[in-house]
Amino acid sequence: MTILLVIAMEAEAAPVRAALGLEGPGQQLHLAFPAHLWATPDEEVAVASNGTDARFGVAAIATQPAVTTTLHAIEACAPRLVISAGTAGGFASRGGEIAKPYLASRVVFHDRRIDLPPFDRYGDGDYAVADLSAVATSMGLATGTVSTGNALDAPPSDVAKMGATETVAKDMEAAAVAWTCEQLDVPFTALKVITDLVDHHETAADQFTRNLALATKTLAQTAADLVAALQDNPLLATK
Ligand code: ADE
Repeated sequence: MTILLVIAMEAEAAPVRAALGLEGPGQQLHLAFPAHLWATPDEEVAVASNGTDARFGVAAIATQPAVTTTLHAIEACAPRLVISAGTAGGFASRGGEIAKPYLASRVVFHDRRIDLPPFDRYGDGDYAVADLSAVATSMGLATGTVSTGNALDAPPSDVAKMGATETVAKDMEAAAVAWTCEQLDVPFTALKVITDLVDHHETAADQFTRNLALATKTLAQTAADLVAALQDNPLLATK
């Protein structure tokens, strides 16, 4: 059964597909959405990429495309595991470095501020994450909290929230992918590589632009290694 990687930007997805030997234009998942799916001939591995927003002409990032792509890709390939793969902001104060990869041990939202219990817990999400700690240890891969929001910047309330959850990777998709997986009872994790440090004087945008190529190279290599480790592990071979 398939391991499915869901990736937001084509700049992230193309190196991952190359590392996994996935070629060609892919299959459009739904006529109304730009996302495409690539799969190996044996259907062991698949990559879904959000594609380009038709109106704005940019990569369809953030939470709404993450949900629709994940839904349509799961319907298309019935995966045994979904991996939200991509880049993220890191925290030097918690050991973060440019191009450092992380595997998720927890996935939450940091910007769904609903100070009205019990909606507060609904807002935070805190979705189920597959326990792949043994695989992470064997690969020497750091683990930690991935926190999702719909902004590239981080106002003080978001920074405080990510401090409370000891976030190591701040992204714009993982929790949305995780929510979709939870609805459909599909195991989920996230693999994120750092392009920028949230606790740095430069803007996230400047750091992201400078470090994207380096981080996506690491993403491609780590994603290929993780898929190989998951395929080799008999305990993880079936759902
Ligand atoms: N992806 C890469 N860097 C990010 C950041 N700082 N915030 C959200 N998503 C990101």
